[in-house]
Amino acid sequence: MSTVYLNGQYLPKDQARISPDDRGFLLSDGIYEVTGFYEGVPLALDRHMARMRSGLNELRIDFDSSGVEEIHHRLIAENGLQSAETSLVYLQITRGVAPRTHYFPTEPVEPTVYAFAKAWSRPSPEAWNKGFTAITVPDRRWLRVDIKTISLLPNVMAFQDARDAGADDAILVRDGVAIEGAHQNFWAVFGDTAVTHPISNLILPGISRGLVMGIAAEKGIAIKERAIMAEELATADEAFFTGTTGEVRPCVEIDGRPIGDGRVGPITRALSQGFRETIARAQEKAAERAEAAGV
Ligand code: PDD
Repeated sequence: MSTVYLNGQYLPKDQARISPDDRGFLLSDGIYEVTGFYEGVPLALDRHMARMRSGLNELRIDFDSSGVEEIHHRLIAENGLQSAETSLVYLQITRGVAPRTHYFPTEPVEPTVYAFAKAWSRPSPEAWNKGFTAITVPDRRWLRVDIKTISLLPNVMAFQDARDAGADDAILVRDGVAIEGAHQNFWAVFGDTAVTHPISNLILPGISRGLVMGIAAEKGIAIKERAIMAEELATADEAFFTGTTGEVRPCVEIDGRPIGDGRVGPITRALSQGFRETIARAQEKAAERAEAAGV
């Protein structure tokens, strides 16, 4: 039985109880974060925390988040995941328990804070090297998807559409623009330039997206943030997704048509390699810090 965190307590998952009056349950009134861990070392936890705080501010959820990083580390330890090659912590904060109203509760409420940790697996090298497929589907989400809310039904429906079509993922299209994936950011490569949608209210500002931008700068790979028209995908040389647990994931076929020559391309490979290097650096830094602290 895994150990989860709920409102100040670490407890077996089957003992975690959440009220049916929780506004997360009734109204999707909350946010979440998913942070990747590699042999117990988080990747860019500070960036995840910054995005969490920005979401809480946007939704006016009053919560002292100073202990949240510690919850992450403790859940990894409690669940014996320090040596797992790849694991994650899922964190969800809802406005809390209050009688159902469409406005915010007028009395102060304690937010509900729930978190769990689990291992995940990368695709096999064979599967990664073969690449993944996607279909385009209409983006049926609201106009503030920059806030990482738990309201994910349109994402779920898009991903299910992809599965029903036998594809690995969905690319959400709004007004002819390939915005992002159902749970990952989307990139296309034209010539020597990797292109992705600019940060706006229409995409989730992915932490992996930000890391990949830095990696591209380091490696001298040109990047452009601009809208990618779905029609343009026919002329793309490469395509890939970025996200926590997806890392850098090649997309070699969209709507049944190959991207470029239908094989994983050099820019996708270089950025994926850079992503692995970034993880290794985070691990080295964590080891140095532990040594300095005499752990
Ligand atoms: N998904 N776009 C969407 C719509 C997402 O849901 C996610 C993350 C991303 C990538 O963000 P990041 O690089 O910070 O993981 C982009 C998470 C992992 C999920 O829903 O499980």
